[in-house]
Amino acid sequence: YRSIHSLSSLPETHQMLHKTCRDFAEGELMPIAAKLDREHLYPKDQIRKMGELGLMGINTPEAYGGPGLDCLAFSIAVEEISRGCGGTGVIMSVHNALYMGMLEKYGREDQKEQYLAPFATGETIGCFALSEPGSGSDAASLSTTARLDGNEWVLNGTKAWITNGAEATASVILATTDKSKKHKGICAFLVPMPTEGLSLGKKEDKLGIRASSTCNIILEDCRIPKENLLGKEGEGFKYAMNVLDGARIGISSQALGIAQAALDCAIDYAAKRIAFGSPILKFQSIQQKLADMALRLEAARLLVWRAAVLKDEGKRYTKESSLGKLAASEAATFVSHQCIQILGGMGYVSDMPAERHYRDARITEIYGGITDIQKLVVAGQLAREYGL
Ligand code: CAA
Ligand code: FAD
Repeated sequence: YRSIHSLSSLPETHQMLHKTCRDFAEGELMPIAAKLDREHLYPKDQIRKMGELGLMGINTPEAYGGPGLDCLAFSIAVEEISRGCGGTGVIMSVHNALYMGMLEKYGREDQKEQYLAPFATGETIGCFALSEPGSGSDAASLSTTARLDGNEWVLNGTKAWITNGAEATASVILATTDKSKKHKGICAFLVPMPTEGLSLGKKEDKLGIRASSTCNIILEDCRIPKENLLGKEGEGFKYAMNVLDGARIGISSQALGIAQAALDCAIDYAAKRIAFGSPILKFQSIQQKLADMALRLEAARLLVWRAAVLKDEGKRYTKESSLGKLAASEAATFVSHQCIQILGGMGYVSDMPAERHYRDARITEIYGGITDIQKLVVAGQLAREYGL
């Protein structure tokens, strides 16, 4: 893969994108991130402006209204947006990698015109519904059903934890036509929102990423046209696994952004805080903490960028994507934990952003496939590499 190791080694387009996203995050997100978190607010205006910057259809081809940038660009943009606000980072990541990703890869021309192009502007967003109350890590065991009745599919069941669920005007929903076929019975459907037979559960009151909404989607005899099947019948699970490989790069990038924000916060504070007659930055124990934080963050970023570049080169990247997610999510938890330690009492109160970074970081080890599942994926790919 390309020799990409630091910001200055990136292609010019990516460096420009990095600057655009950093300026946007510092100007538009950082000043309101605490309020969005405290009041559980969706950043509607900011998402619209991100649409204007091309960030809400970042990989979408120009023909459908996006800039058609690559996965490395997606990673850089999600990191910078998440550095400004972790919750906004996941709104962007799910919309691009999961909702738009499913359409870009498996949508028919007419579906792309209706469900992809209008969603690249940031005026409307999409969501992706795989998980259920009874099925998370074991995604193939899902029990939402789809039955063909004349020219319509009839959906019944409950999808759980759906990011962007409260604001979305369309969802990609995974449901089974025959549970006895296990993953081979699963299909992907395009469901407009609102629509008759679809209702939303309460907005979850979360530990972190509170700018993003999370809710159940309840389907009770929800009828959609026959042509809203995405791709082929029985292939939905594989489609979901495929886009999840890319979405894990999005969540890893969100984790990098949260970790970078925590490291920035810790260094700034350590340089200003005086104890025993000198800035605490001069103390070796603080320096060691900062070095450990930088080590984990920068190592994780290299893994995440490697996965993105492999995807852009059309190579297999399932293992690399999971390795990146493992490293980046654990780095985010570690770095934000150490950030609080460096700030002392000020790390524990909401006057400073450290406690928010700590709360925001925690979810990156859970969604997009929990840590145990990433390890299972890596081990599976290793076995494959060893011909076992
Ligand atoms: N790409 C393409 N196809 C894949 C694949 C991949 N990465 N991984 C598996 N498949 C295919 C297999 O080849 C197999 O196909 P065949 O029928 O041709 O053999 C099929 O899928 C079934 O594979 P497995 O037997 O490996 O499936 P499994 O039931 O053992 O499950 C799993 C594998 C990796 C554990 C999967 O269930 C999984 O990823 N679980 C975690 C779910 C998850 O990540 N959910 C995230 C929800 S979205 C979210 O949370 C949003 C957010 O980030 C904010
Ligand atoms: P479970 O799968 O029940 O896991 C419980 C415990 O068992 C964990 O410790 C897990 O590691 C362990 N475990 C399970 N299986 C194994 C195994 N084989 N080996 C070892 N340990 C195992 N889903 C969507 O579809 N769309 C979304 O937009 C979305 N957004 C989300 C947003 C938030 C804020 C949250 C909290 C979740 C979201 N999810 C979404 C769901 C998310 O992907 C799941 O929560 C996640 O995959 C874990 O599933 P679970 O919660 O059912 O945990």
